[in-house]
Amino acid sequence: MEIIIQPTPEAATAIAARLVARLIRKKPAAVLGLATGGTMEPLYRELVAQKLDWSRLTTFNLDEYVGIAPEHSQSYHRFMREKLLQHVNVAAANVNIPDGLAQDVPAACENYERKISAAGGIDLQLLGIGTHGHIGFNEPTSSLASRTRIKTLTPQTRRDNARYFGGEEQVPHHVITLGIGTILESRHCLLLAFGKQKARAIAAAVEGPITAMCPASVLQLHPRVTVFLDEAAAAELKLTDYYRWVYAQKPDWQRI
Ligand code: PGA
Repeated sequence: MEIIIQPTPEAATAIAARLVARLIRKKPAAVLGLATGGTMEPLYRELVAQKLDWSRLTTFNLDEYVGIAPEHSQSYHRFMREKLLQHVNVAAANVNIPDGLAQDVPAACENYERKISAAGGIDLQLLGIGTHGHIGFNEPTSSLASRTRIKTLTPQTRRDNARYFGGEEQVPHHVITLGIGTILESRHCLLLAFGKQKARAIAAAVEGPITAMCPASVLQLHPRVTVFLDEAAAAELKLTDYYRWVYAQKPDWQRI
């Protein structure tokens, strides 16, 4: 795992955006795994500003609420459209987001997995992290081998997301999320976390034991993970001096 600690979320986001942009330029038909949430918004703004060519890219989103229509103000379909997709020249046919209104959810999840495989797998997976360590909506105790499926949100996640819905009681209970096993098959994971509310989850994910109690800790098994943090999110890590030193010593050919 590479841990990049920057003074501010803006500085960390700028480096993450450079990494994504570099892949898009190098591999115009890449497959991107996209995420939603407040952490991703500035990243998408940066990517839009770079005026990259999205015409041959394929995208797969991590998750969606069950029972919410694409037009709903808090659907992840809507989030993606407003924050990114309507501002870039991506082909609508290449955009994939789980269907929260699917009649047969298990079949829709299997189909989603098949589409990812048919597209050649995910080249780069963007990830946020929940305050209790979820990635996607893989809540604590999720199977570390899980595939795309329906999950029930924890009360913690529903509280965390209440701010978007104008109240906890409005937050759906169920979601469709890419599985942890699916995330592990992506070729490169970028995890972004900012703010002190993420510090404990980041310490558990990066330096704690691999455990389903902190699903993000499974990323320790992934061969290529880059973690972007601000100082506040890095505050509970033990080896921060080492991570900073490693980043400062990066050979030129590895620089982002
Ligand atoms: P956030 O969500 O970016 O809104 O903090 C991250 C997550 O829950 O994965």
